[in-house]
Amino acid sequence: MSAIVEMERISKAYEVARTPGLLGRRGADRALDVVTNFTLAVRQGEFVCVIGPSGCGKTTVLFLLAGIRDPSDGRIAVCGKAPADAVRVGLSSVIFQQPILFEWLTAEDNVLLPLRLRDPRWWWWPPRRARYQETVRQLLRTVELEQFARYYPDKLSGGMQQRVAIARALTLNPQVLLLDEPFGALDEITRDRMNLELLRLYDERELTILFVTHSIEEAVFLSDRVVVMSRGASARTGSSIVREVRVDLPRPRRLALKEDPAFFQKVREGRAALREAQVAD
Ligand SMILES: Nc1ncnc2c1ncn2[C@@H]1O[C@H](COP(=O)(O)OP(=O)(O)OP(=O)(O)O)[C@@H](O)[C@H]1O
Ligand SMILES: [Mg+2]
Repeated sequence: MSAIVEMERISKAYEVARTPGLLGRRGADRALDVVTNFTLAVRQGEFVCVIGPSGCGKTTVLFLLAGIRDPSDGRIAVCGKAPADAVRVGLSSVIFQQPILFEWLTAEDNVLLPLRLRDPRWWWWPPRRARYQETVRQLLRTVELEQFARYYPDKLSGGMQQRVAIARALTLNPQVLLLDEPFGALDEITRDRMNLELLRLYDERELTILFVTHSIEEAVFLSDRVVVMSRGASARTGSSIVREVRVDLPRPRRLALKEDPAFFQKVREGRAALREAQVAD
């Protein structure tokens, strides 16, 4: 089956602080190569995690896939489209580290926002809103927040806010979910619960997921494949990708899996790859 997410020899350099020019003239720009020769093909229904040391370019990779940044070089496609187009038409959707919610909108209005923005009569919203009521109720039920539909974000806990953000990301029924350390700020128990909820959604909605995390345990628990990145290109591979660890553990995954020797073995493999990534620094 052909890939739903394709990155072919992607490089991304950021222009960073100019050196001061002489006599008021503009100084030279300096480019920082963040992502180098990054090739990744994700097939439909696959769950891929990206890990690597802080500052290695994980968020940059995700932003490239979400069309928030443009690559300096290489080819990239999501659902056969330019990444920004895939997001615009609702085929892919992003969830950030901090739940970015609109404080002046209730949980349900935050979830409805993608539909409101696309409604041909958005300016006549109050009467139009009613037609989406069932959709929003179902979405909030999906993340177990039906009771909190009328709450404003500042009255919800961090985990609940992130669940609202997840519900909103599902509003347009995307095929691809892109998540950047979405549960990084949560305590371990809540994180475990959110991981299980995400796996349930992944299963029910037959999603394809790209998930950035710092935690090798989380990566192994969730994914079919862990992509390990280094800061700067690895001398061995000539790319930002140091290694890929295939996680052929059975699904559905339950928390008991974390006690299984096969799980430990994969975590060990991931750790070794991470050490190699640090050496490549
Ligand atoms: N807009 C930008 N302009 C210049 N440099 C940037 C920009 N965005 C990111 N960088 C640099 O690119 C590098 C990679 O940043 P990125 O946020 O992708 O890393 P990361 O792997 O997500 O890190 P973390 O694990 O800390 O979230 C860093 O050195 C950062 O300073
Ligand atoms: Mg990041």
